[in-house]
Amino acid sequence: MKIVVLMGSPNKNGSTAILVDSFVQGAAEAGHNCEVIDICRADIHPCTGCVRCGYEGPCVQKDDVEVIRGKLLSADMVVFATPLYYYGMTAQLKAVVDRFCAYNSSLNGRHLKSALLTVAWNADDWTFEALTAHYKTLVRYIHFEDMGMVLGYGCGTPAMTKRSKYPQEAFQLGRSL
Ligand SMILES: Cc1cc2nc3c(=O)[nH]c(=O)nc-3n(C[C@H](O)[C@H](O)[C@H](O)COP(=O)(O)O)c2cc1C
Repeated sequence: MKIVVLMGSPNKNGSTAILVDSFVQGAAEAGHNCEVIDICRADIHPCTGCVRCGYEGPCVQKDDVEVIRGKLLSADMVVFATPLYYYGMTAQLKAVVDRFCAYNSSLNGRHLKSALLTVAWNADDWTFEALTAHYKTLVRYIHFEDMGMVLGYGCGTPAMTKRSKYPQEAFQLGRSL
């Protein structure tokens, strides 16, 4: 499979990156081809809501979304990777999701497989309730097929994450595909 990982953490060597690396290793072992897109360093602007795209058509904003669009529409799977920011995804990742607007129907028609990789400082059982609700709703709406979620409770720093069970979970998720 061709897998596109939307890497939504601004920290290149942070906890999200640890899960992404482990996932990619597992997926590679299973024979898949992963491309990690560092969206925090890409030129991506928030949707302005002009709807000149008509929910399917050229966006008036000319930035790196055009590249991401091409990659997603030719992929088999998308992975959303994000640290928890105020109980949701990062603004950088949300900007990419909102810009789905201009290729909404095409993306719907792709029926991509999907996964969520996330980390948070908090370890309470409710830590990921809002993020997972959002992710599952997105999956349902856009006709993705969820392949799994790695929810890194208590992963506040790279050291905490490295000694947790979650890198192995991310590896196994990639390996299982
Ligand atoms: C702006 C910001 C908001 C955050 N919000 C939350 C939060 O709502 N809940 C939580 O448990 N951790 C929160 N954190 C902690 C991060 O999710 C956590 O440190 C994570 O490991 C960072 O991942 P990274 O190394 O990929 O940046 C927040 C961190 C930042 C910088």
